Amino acid sequence: MSGGLRIGVVGVGYVGLTTAVCLAGRDHDVVAVDIDEAKIARLSAGVPIIDEADLPDLLTRTIAAGRLTFRTDYEALADRDVVFVCVSTPSGPDGAADLRALDAAVTRLTQVLRAGAVVTIKSTVPVGTTRRVAKRLRAYGIGAVSSPEFLREGRAIADFTHPDRVVVGADSDTDAALVCAAYGADPATVLHMSPESAELAKYASNAFLAVKLSYTNSLAQLCRRYGGDIGDVTACMGADARIGPSFLQPGPGWGGSCLPKDTAALVFSAQAQGVAMAEVEAARTTNVAQPARIEAALRQSMTCPLRDARITVLGLTFKAATSDTRDSPALAVCAHLAAEGAALYGYDPRLPAIDATVLSSAGVTAVDDPYRAAKSADAVVVLTEWPQFRDLDWAAIAEHAPGAVVADTRNLLDPTTVEAAGLRYLGNGRADGY
Ligand code: UGA
Repeated sequence: MSGGLRIGVVGVGYVGLTTAVCLAGRDHDVVAVDIDEAKIARLSAGVPIIDEADLPDLLTRTIAAGRLTFRTDYEALADRDVVFVCVSTPSGPDGAADLRALDAAVTRLTQVLRAGAVVTIKSTVPVGTTRRVAKRLRAYGIGAVSSPEFLREGRAIADFTHPDRVVVGADSDTDAALVCAAYGADPATVLHMSPESAELAKYASNAFLAVKLSYTNSLAQLCRRYGGDIGDVTACMGADARIGPSFLQPGPGWGGSCLPKDTAALVFSAQAQGVAMAEVEAARTTNVAQPARIEAALRQSMTCPLRDARITVLGLTFKAATSDTRDSPALAVCAHLAAEGAALYGYDPRLPAIDATVLSSAGVTAVDDPYRAAKSADAVVVLTEWPQFRDLDWAAIAEHAPGAVVADTRNLLDPTTVEAAGLRYLGNGRADGY
């Protein structure tokens, strides 16, 4: 081992794999454990398993340098100084976080770790979880810290290596110092707090982003009614340093593996404390209403009934720069339109990496070329903000789909180009849009 620490990571999903690779890149000795044998075999062979910029190179380099190993046995963690727990905490039907994977991991860690080691929970967990886990670990002389992760998919490595803030929720200064040493974080970015505050800060951040996005979509709806333009309204709002320009882009709704799950868990856990969290609940309600807004816009503007319509959807992932379709708003829109009887043909730049069964269950027939997907379409709906959609040959699309309506849920396209091609353009919250 070099001058670094002996670090363990449990769970090699998005957060765990990014953590393992980035910490190994900082000259620590990292052992990452997961119960999924197939995943571990692929990672050991240097296959990145997630679609993330800069990950393949860092993975290969750190494995080759002998600083990163992948294992299925917890015994490989026996000599670790710090172990980051990054297992998934999915939400159940009532919104409550499912902590079975976390609790099972903690049990295994009590069996192998030495006294003095520190378990750091990076999974998003309900407030109070770290303290509960700490009680169990204390009996073995093991410390517990809460350090939630704020990385975004598609920018995971950059977000991990250059974070806005590093949250360390710990009662013990020694444990906190060890975790800070593992991160090698700039002290100016580290926010020290209690485990409860750290856990809540994570939910609070994601829920605030969700509220901001739903508010923007509601304003877009209002712009349409008043004849305003959402781009102008958000430009004004975003120029105010107190508000900031990010997360003010309207869309087909927000999704992904975190915002829907975390807002549900926050509302559920707050209710148990007798707190309504009405803002977050309203943001969720607004979000599930977005597909119906798009449906109404298509019904009003297409020349044929929705049940006879052939609709091309551009973009299937939950946002650009990822192949992830978990809780994708694009697929929610597709499923909604398919339930109304429309025939859907979908293209996405990452189509080869998308599971075909996910698409078929949303009623989408995948087509690996945007122009072929547009053939004979009554409407083309832009659902994911892939920049390359802007550069499509809209005249060629018009040739394939004469007279089609183009519903641009992300306001990505240049309306003039689309209209010059002879297509009807509908922006989200724009004049003559929806
Ligand atoms: C989100 C948070 O942004 C991260 O900080 C957090 O660490 C992560 O969840 C997590 O908890 O692990 P992510 O799920 O990768 O990250 O996605 P975002 O970039 O937040 O996008 C969420 C959704 O909002 C997407 O569907 C996106 O298309 C949509 N969105 C985003 C908009 O519709 N408009 C915008 O202006 C921005």
